[in-house]
Amino acid sequence: MEENQVVSMPRIGDPAPEFTAVTTQGNINFPSDFKGNWVILFSHPADFTPVCTSEFMTFATMEAQFTEANCKLVGLSVDGLYSHIAWLRTIKEKIEYKGMKNVEVKFPLIEDITMEVAKKYGMIQPGEATTKAVRAVFYIDPKGIIRTIIYYPLSMGRNFDELYRVLIGLQTADAFSVALPADWRPGDDVIVPTAGSCGVAKERMESKDEMHCYDWFFCTKALDKDKVLKTVLKK
Ligand code: BEZ
Repeated sequence: MEENQVVSMPRIGDPAPEFTAVTTQGNINFPSDFKGNWVILFSHPADFTPVCTSEFMTFATMEAQFTEANCKLVGLSVDGLYSHIAWLRTIKEKIEYKGMKNVEVKFPLIEDITMEVAKKYGMIQPGEATTKAVRAVFYIDPKGIIRTIIYYPLSMGRNFDELYRVLIGLQTADAFSVALPADWRPGDDVIVPTAGSCGVAKERMESKDEMHCYDWFFCTKALDKDKVLKTVLKK
């Protein structure tokens, strides 16, 4: 791919581009096989590399947490299937890292030697690398719509607490029709949609109810942590 070539990339709010692929867990039709679930589709630069190994061990170790939040994980690199299989076997059999060992990666890892999927999703960013995908993360909702996109460069491992926080945040914002302030975590106050009329703005500023207004356009309310977790994790 030419460095200056214009490529179209999916955006937040777009339907997730469709593809079929071979993975370490069999063939998949994306996103239709995952309808009804949240999906995190993520790319990594290459098998048998250290940052990617640390990421896969972390993601696989946290997989149950993502499943509990109705979210499936799907990985991708431009390596082939046998490389994927050999790498995942090595991880399980040989790698012990930060207390994680015997780690089995059970989620599908897509082979994408032709880069067809990686290009469709804007995972090849020539300024960073022409032969490897960057560390892209796509959150796709149960209706197949892209809801968040995060990119990291080759040299930087992802923050998996943040990846999990974003998943819980997206579902909380949907379920309670609220927005979430900087660094929000379950149990923190949430933002009430901004007043859309002068009347509502006045009411809000004068109201003594559950809302706290810093100004007419910036009002928060408490949202109980258990209520959030019960809704998102179906606990
Ligand atoms: C890594 O995962 O360690 C890595 C992969 C590609 C470039 C740099 C680092």
